[in-house]
Amino acid sequence: MTDGPLIELEGITKTFGTGAAAFQALKGVDLAIQGGDFVAIMGPSGSGKSTTMNILGCLDTPTSGTFRFHGVEVQALTRDQRSLLRRRYLGFVFQGFNLLARTTALENVELPLLYRGEPKAARRKAAERSLDKVGLLPWASHTPAELSGGQQQRVAIARALVTDPDVLLADEPTGNLDTERSIEIMELLSDLSRTGITVLMVTHEEEMAEFARTIVRFRDGLVENVEQGALREVIT
Ligand SMILES: Nc1ncnc2c1ncn2[C@@H]1O[C@H](COP(=O)(O)OP(=O)(O)OP(=O)(O)O)[C@@H](O)[C@H]1O
Ligand SMILES: [Mg+2]
Repeated sequence: MTDGPLIELEGITKTFGTGAAAFQALKGVDLAIQGGDFVAIMGPSGSGKSTTMNILGCLDTPTSGTFRFHGVEVQALTRDQRSLLRRRYLGFVFQGFNLLARTTALENVELPLLYRGEPKAARRKAAERSLDKVGLLPWASHTPAELSGGQQQRVAIARALVTDPDVLLADEPTGNLDTERSIEIMELLSDLSRTGITVLMVTHEEEMAEFARTIVRFRDGLVENVEQGALREVIT
């Protein structure tokens, strides 16, 4: 642990493909994110937002540059250490929810703990706590088909929270939701960030980005601009 930023990207590049087909998706991304921040990542389609999220989530590796997490250089870790880092510190929320269909909300939320080999009683308890955090404990025995889109996304967030991550990574978490449901998810993410979890979210909607404390704008594989202190927090 260090006193520096939780996450640091320095000169991160990412090239997909080789030779004539090579495409440089990231051209030297510099970014520092403080622990506990609520960050909205914005920018045009193809500007490198998801590529950056995948690197931050240890789902992909950069071509060059330095990525530090808690001051530790991530590329210096072995593949196994990186996957440990991912399981121990990171939680993921996707646009499409990715819930198992014929499985209750509670069982969906338990899943990451099942992979960890935790005993049933402990899994159940943690999953109930996590569902409670997103206000869905009464819906624990419902399957995704019996839940609204907003509720399904809450279950997905509860699943991401069940391992007690330091960082929640959400790539367009409201992409499939209407405005009202999206705002509810933003309020939830905002509350979570106030409890100390660092939230990194990609969004195309200014209205949603306003809930964040920091807005990072991408353009053509680079960070174009970082704005601090978004409006919503001041007025709510
Ligand atoms: N696996 C891959 N192979 C080749 N090119 C890729 C790959 N992944 C991404 N790219 C390219 O890299 C660029 C950045 O993609 P990325 O998914 O990061 O964009 P984005 O900002 O998330 O866009 P969107 O808003 O549409 O989700 C795009 O031009 C994309 O085509
Ligand atoms: Mg994307």
